[in-house]
Amino acid sequence: MAYNNILSENQNGITTITINRPAKLNALNKDTIQELHEAFDAANNDTKTKVIIVTGSGEKAFVAGADISEFADFDVENGGKLAAQGQALLFDFVENLSTPVIAAVNGFALGGGLELAMACHFRVASNNAKVGLPEVSLGVIPGYGGTQRLPQLVGKGRAMEMIMTAGMIDANTALSFGLLNHVVSQEELLPFCESIAVKIMRNSPVAISAAIKAVNANFKDGVDGYKVEIEQFGNCFGTEDFTEGTTAFLDKRKAEFPGK
Ligand code: COA
Repeated sequence: MAYNNILSENQNGITTITINRPAKLNALNKDTIQELHEAFDAANNDTKTKVIIVTGSGEKAFVAGADISEFADFDVENGGKLAAQGQALLFDFVENLSTPVIAAVNGFALGGGLELAMACHFRVASNNAKVGLPEVSLGVIPGYGGTQRLPQLVGKGRAMEMIMTAGMIDANTALSFGLLNHVVSQEELLPFCESIAVKIMRNSPVAISAAIKAVNANFKDGVDGYKVEIEQFGNCFGTEDFTEGTTAFLDKRKAEFPGK
């Protein structure tokens, strides 16, 4: 599919989605959010895609935030709608995909950019990355899940400080906070993410999507994550992947998962 603001390419089981507005530091305008929704949805439904990597084009930014020029004149109602629609179309959507999503953070990840990275299943960054939630410097708060996911990842105190100061932290600080899993050079970023994807692809896609549901259940209000884990665990026993995984182990051979 042709997009105006993003690129999407599948190779060897990995779909790489690149946000492609480098002149605006890949800021998320309405059209980009819609296109990202479509690209993530298409990749998630594509049997050739086992892992999704999302990154930004250029060497400067992953995403420098929501596009400020689009909402500067919004009123209360439009502000609320902006957050609700964005969360439904992109941020909650990505978090709940059954295909693993890795954020390859190649530079600034600010505001909506850090919120997108946090909605992904985990994050790897290049050593030039700078991340933060600067919204209060604009008189607004993070509206794409940042007030919820940042404390989940770094703890309440660090999240409060990052949000209140509106400051940026560098990649190594974010690594030490647990916000990033790995920091590598800019040249290594995509190859490194792809090497993790290769490790993921050796395993059962059905079991991985069940694991995503169970882990996410830990962070959903009113949901008993242990119960979800029991259900998802039980369901695995009815899958062809389980038969193949256990049979291959007992036969002392490598499993070839059918993904069913
Ligand atoms: N929304 C809209 N446009 C943005 C943007 C955003 N979030 N972030 C950057 N841009 C645009 C700039 O307006 C500029 O466009 P122009 O060349 O047409 O004037 C272009 O991207 C380059 O940005 P610039 O500010 O010139 O780059 P810089 O290297 O001097 O600074 C940043 C980089 C990231 C520090 C700075 O762009 C910035 O603070 N951006 C906003 C971050 C933010 O508050 N995000 C949260 C939004 S809720």
